[in-house]
Amino acid sequence: MDVLVSLCKRRGFIFQSSEIYGGTGAAWDYGPLGVELKNNIKRAWWRDNIHLRPDMVGLDASILMHPQVWKASGHLDHFTDPMVDCKACQHRFRADKVEEQSWIHYCPATKGNKFEVPAGEPCKHCNVRRSLCPDCGKGELTTPRQFNLMFKTFMGPVEEDAAVTYLRPETAQGIFVNFDNVLQSMRLKLPFGIAQIGKAFRNEITPGNFIFRTREFEQMEMQFFVKPGTENEWFETWRAERMKWVEGLGIRSEKLRWHQHGKDELAHYAADAYDIQYEFPFGWQEFEGIHNRTDFDLTNHQKHAGKKLDYLDPKTNERFIPYVVETSAGADRTTLVVLCDAYREEQVRGEEAAEGGDQRVVLKLKPSLAPLKAAVFPLVNKDGMPELAHRIHDDLRRHFNVFYDDGGSIGRRYRRQDEAGTPYGITIDGQSTQDQTVTVRDRDTLKQDRVAAGKLVEYLTQKLAG
Ligand code: GAP
Repeated sequence: MDVLVSLCKRRGFIFQSSEIYGGTGAAWDYGPLGVELKNNIKRAWWRDNIHLRPDMVGLDASILMHPQVWKASGHLDHFTDPMVDCKACQHRFRADKVEEQSWIHYCPATKGNKFEVPAGEPCKHCNVRRSLCPDCGKGELTTPRQFNLMFKTFMGPVEEDAAVTYLRPETAQGIFVNFDNVLQSMRLKLPFGIAQIGKAFRNEITPGNFIFRTREFEQMEMQFFVKPGTENEWFETWRAERMKWVEGLGIRSEKLRWHQHGKDELAHYAADAYDIQYEFPFGWQEFEGIHNRTDFDLTNHQKHAGKKLDYLDPKTNERFIPYVVETSAGADRTTLVVLCDAYREEQVRGEEAAEGGDQRVVLKLKPSLAPLKAAVFPLVNKDGMPELAHRIHDDLRRHFNVFYDDGGSIGRRYRRQDEAGTPYGITIDGQSTQDQTVTVRDRDTLKQDRVAAGKLVEYLTQKLAG
């Protein structure tokens, strides 16, 4: 992970939040290239889920909601993680995560010899289970306590109990409380979905692994409302759809797998759940979940708000509360998947090696997701090349996000753009000023085409399609 974190900083993808104050470790800022990459992912999700589907509409609900929402949704009572504290250094851990790490043990049964005991296992000599702090190795751990993950805040100027509310821990509730507004205003018929992208907040006990687990993050969520009895079929349909979408981002399929939640893993609202997992450098982990939420949320909001949240079937005249199949992806975690999957270290040969060295780091991003689509390079800063290069850059930037770079050797400029994942490098050389053609270097094949400057928009449009 460290090499990716450092590349993300070096190339302007992701910075630690408040870095000049030492950072927070639990929040990250997207730099000029990172915001483009994340926006491209969010735009692809919005286009494919909303614009390209006849049965889906979008929503943008607020982060602050009526505090009763969180009582009705079950988050106040059930959205907790078991937590243990070290009695010596006071560090706090998720109890289940402590069990997942190997630990160093000075075993009394072997005169205090030091052993690394594998995760989840007792010491094979003395049979003792982990009870000491994973950080300081000295302090005893407390017995687990439940810790609510919602961020508490106050609505209005008075900090009193009546003014307490929460930053939403999932965007989904904004969709449920607007179910009837959307249904009536858009005159929808089941089955249909409401989708939104937005920030969510969780006071995670152990944030970490870069942008994988943070306290502030973005979700791309969709609630699909169906007639009770059809939810299992829709659940399978959405599982297939979501895996297809993820693969469409260019993610290698051998790095993806399903994980079905066991009974003890299911969220309080879910009757069934599957995660899409990716093999990150730190192991297989979830980045999207598909959940059968039954009628849990609408039923509870109907009860707590005292407002009808049912559906009148126009064919049968029957009234019922729809069931819900949810697809819930993290925009940041999906961005991390895309970055991890695209990251390659490669050997290069020939002219490329002579110009920029025989090793390169390259982000093989799907071109439609790449922050920059092309970079324009005048070979040297004289002989009419910069003037032509600026003209080409100005022309291209009306169509694509394109970068201009005239600093350093051409080999170094190629390498910088490889690290940024820029699919095409356009070089203006001596021949260009004579016949108005340029070379276009392909990031992945390293092949160069000579293309008429006036045909570049058409050339890149074709190459970037998809
Ligand atoms: N509405 C259902 C829901 O929120 P979840 O499995 O808790 O389900 C869905 O979260 C997705 O949100 C996760 O798969 C992950 O991508 C993202 N996510 C959850 N907690 C996160 C965190 N602390 N940091 C970054 N992303 C997170």
